[in-house]
Amino acid sequence: MSEQHGNMIKSPKQLILMVFAAFFVPLIVILLLLIYANSGVKSSAIPTPEQTAELIKPVAKLNFVDASAPKVYKTGEAVYQNVCSSCHANGAAGAPAFENKSAWSARISKGYDTLMTSVLKGKNAMPARGGASPDDISDYEIARAVVYMANAAGGKLNEPKEPAQAAAK
Ligand code: HEC
Repeated sequence: MSEQHGNMIKSPKQLILMVFAAFFVPLIVILLLLIYANSGVKSSAIPTPEQTAELIKPVAKLNFVDASAPKVYKTGEAVYQNVCSSCHANGAAGAPAFENKSAWSARISKGYDTLMTSVLKGKNAMPARGGASPDDISDYEIARAVVYMANAAGGKLNEPKEPAQAAAK
């Protein structure tokens, strides 16, 4: 039957030869390819320890913020710009407008503590802390903004004292 299909393998010797060839020829081709692929590798391509560290370092580098580092407080002007100016820049909702002396003089004459209480607790259309979260804007930063705004409208309030920094752990 097999003769009818023109079988090339006609003896056991040929069979052994074919099995060997089928095994070794692809192996030799792969070996040659490997040698060819590696022929470009020079000793300089072996990474230095520094390069290795660079190559295996994690994708995202953690950027630690030193929790015991002194806090940097926002200036009164920055707080005013970020939080308070939305109402106070042009007197929205009946807010005393920035640098408007006649709108501020009666309020300033009530004293710094009264102004602070109004801002920390809220007053009529003004939400407590101007709507800012105490996590974002500390009392001290609110105080700086109050002084900044009052003095811009002719007040002579003293810059509030910076709170003592928590002792470093
Ligand atoms: C949502 C609008 C709004 C925001 C935001 C706002 N204010 Fe006011 N503020 C007002 C209004 C309205 C008044 C007038 C309240 C009244 O006397 O009826 C006022 C009044 C004040 C007064 C005078 C209080 C008094 O006792 O007369 C101070 C001081 C003040 N604001 C500071 C601030 C500061 C500081 C910020 C930002 C941290 C701020 N405000 C944010 C609306 C606002």
